[in-house]
Amino acid sequence: HLPVDVDISALPPGQQIVVTWQGKPVFITHRTPEALAVLQDAAQAARLRDGPSHDNQQPPYATNWHRSLDPRYGVVVGICTHLGCVPAYKPLPEGKGEAGWPGGYACPCHGSKFDLAGRVFRGAPAPYNLPVPPYSMPTPTVIRLG
Ligand code: FES
Repeated sequence: HLPVDVDISALPPGQQIVVTWQGKPVFITHRTPEALAVLQDAAQAARLRDGPSHDNQQPPYATNWHRSLDPRYGVVVGICTHLGCVPAYKPLPEGKGEAGWPGGYACPCHGSKFDLAGRVFRGAPAPYNLPVPPYSMPTPTVIRLG
């Protein structure tokens, strides 16, 4: 497989693009400052089911609170870790207030909810966070998958 370069220079804050990589949907999101604050919120972190991912759900360079290289850009494989549906993008403020969920990704099949780092909340059938694919950033506005 050849790497896939994604130009994110025109991706505005709060928006997402979906690219196909190795046959899988990959969600690339431009997180707003408000979304970054939510990701660092201790009360939200206490509600996570899989925490910062202990099950090899991301490359070592994404083992951090934002699960990415640049905190402003999220990169996750958009396949629910329950039974494989594609979660819907519901960023702030759309998802805010849904049973205390701060917004992120919601799986249409059985209701699993994830934050904008792909971390799954307790009470969801999905057991693990959405995987972070291997990627690099050859420039600040290019994401290279693979
Ligand atoms: Fe996502 Fe079941 S496949 S909750």
